[in-house]
Amino acid sequence: MIRRVQKLKPEYPHPVNLKVAKPEWIAVDDYFGGLFASGDKQLDAALKANRIAGLPAIDVSPLQGKFLHVLVEMIRPKRILEIGTLGGYSTMWMARALPKSGRIVSLEFNPKHADVARKNLFNAGLLKRVDIRVGKAIDNLPKLKAEGVGPFDFIFIDADKPSNPQYLKWALKLARVGSVIVVDNVVRDGKVADAKSTDSDVRGTRKMASLMAKEPRLSASVVQNVGIKGYDGFAIAVVVS
Ligand code: SAH
Ligand code: DHB
Ligand code: MG
Repeated sequence: MIRRVQKLKPEYPHPVNLKVAKPEWIAVDDYFGGLFASGDKQLDAALKANRIAGLPAIDVSPLQGKFLHVLVEMIRPKRILEIGTLGGYSTMWMARALPKSGRIVSLEFNPKHADVARKNLFNAGLLKRVDIRVGKAIDNLPKLKAEGVGPFDFIFIDADKPSNPQYLKWALKLARVGSVIVVDNVVRDGKVADAKSTDSDVRGTRKMASLMAKEPRLSASVVQNVGIKGYDGFAIAVVVS
C-alpha cells in the first residue's frame, strides 16, 4: 500500500507522495505538469473537493490525467468505460476530450465517492456526458453487456486491483476490434516484479498481466511512470481481433 502525504500546494494541488517520489521526479512532474496540465480551474477545484471530502488521494496525477486526455483525442471514442471513479478526476480529464456526443460510463463501489464525483462533474458542466453506476463493478459489468450499452472504444481500469483479471476479461467482452484498454497501477513501487509476493494487489496485477500477454485478441505493453505519485505504471492494450 502506498502511503501518501496529503499536502496541497495551492498552485499545483495534487498531493505528493513524499515517501517514494524522489525530489527530481517531483520537480519534473511539477515542470511538465505546469506546462501541459495546469491552469484548469475546474480540474483543480475537483482535486481540492476530493481532499476536502476526505477521499483517498489516489486520483491520477495531472500529467497522467492529461495523458488519458491525449489518448482519448487520438482514439476519438464514442463510448468510454471507466472502472473506479473516485471523485471523477480522471473521468473529467477523459470527458473533456470527448466530442459532445461522446459518453462515459464510470463504475464506482462507494456511494460517497460517486456523490463527490457527480458534484465535480456537474460543476464542470460535464455530468451530462457521464453515467456513474454505483455498486460492485463485477456486478455492473454483466448488466452493461445485457443492456447493450457498449461496445466501448476506450476502457480505463482503475479500481480494486485483485479484481483486475476479471475486469480485463469483461473489458474484452465489452470491446470491439480497435478498442484500447488502459490499466492503472501495474508497477506499485516495483512490487509487481516479485513473483512470490503475497500482496493481493500484486497478485491481481500479475494475473491480469499474464492474461493480457497470452490473449491473442490483444496487443499490449507497459509504460512505467515516475512522478508525484511515486513509481507506478500503465498497461496499455489494443484489441486486434
Ligand atoms: N480513476 C480515479 C481513481 C480511482 S481510485 C482517478 O484517477 O481519479 C479507485 C476507486 O475504485 C475508488 O473510488 C474505490 O472506491 C473504487 N472501487 C474499489 N473497489 C471497487 C469495486 N469492487 N467496484 C467498483 N469500484 C471499486
Ligand atoms: C491506489 C489505488 C490507485 O488507483 C492508485 O492510482 C494509487 C494507489 C491504492 O489503492 O493504494
Ligand atoms: Mg489508479
